[in-house]
Amino acid sequence: MAKIIAGNWKMNGTREQAGSLVSQLITSTGTHPAAQVILFPPAPLLMEVAPRLAGTVYQLGAQDISPEERGAFTGDCSAEMLLSVGCSHVLVGHSERRQFHTETDDLVGRKVCRALQSGLTPILCIGELLPERETGETRNRLETQLNGSFAQLSQLPKGTLGSIIVAYEPVWAIGTGKVATPEIASEAHSWISSWLGARGLKLSILYGGSVTASNAASLLSAPHVDGVLVGGASLKPTDFAAIIAAGS
Ligand code: PGA
Repeated sequence: MAKIIAGNWKMNGTREQAGSLVSQLITSTGTHPAAQVILFPPAPLLMEVAPRLAGTVYQLGAQDISPEERGAFTGDCSAEMLLSVGCSHVLVGHSERRQFHTETDDLVGRKVCRALQSGLTPILCIGELLPERETGETRNRLETQLNGSFAQLSQLPKGTLGSIIVAYEPVWAIGTGKVATPEIASEAHSWISSWLGARGLKLSILYGGSVTASNAASLLSAPHVDGVLVGGASLKPTDFAAIIAAGS
């Protein structure tokens, strides 16, 4: 099955850089790569990127979403806005949002809920910190995050939950160059998949954290890894094109 290759640009780039990144990428990969590719530019650049993806199978996503519908929430972006500029996906609960904006599992769950109610596909990011891994607390951490977010979703019809994508991103691997081994990723994905399975859900699970052109193929071929969420390497067109090729 085609893998999901998601590129999280974080807070990088200008309109000009975004335009040139997308055109270089499409020149390298063609308009219809076999992998499912989703780009996550910063909010002000969504409207620059959207028209450049016309005629391709690339999809567009936002890096965050407000849990509220509209109104006096300065600085936030609503689901309606994201849909109106062509987004189909949204990242929710990225560790940088949790760390720098103190997002809680409860808030993350409300955001997932808003995305689903609006027809956006949420990519729910979870992952343990280094001390948690070192003290054998990884599963507890993942379980707390899943329980906390999914508690908010009990009000939604069960069928709606099937479109959620989960991203396992060990925080110690994000932007550090310390990638999880395929075995570590596989073990966490398999546990997440059983947690979901116990609730009647079969969702795609992505790995994220220091994915590069040279380690993508081994991660993507690990059991239970349905795709990758790429940060730094998604800003380098040649590297990201190689990651897309590894998932095609
Ligand atoms: P990285 O970021 O690939 O730069 O480690 C991954 C992410 O934060 O999604």
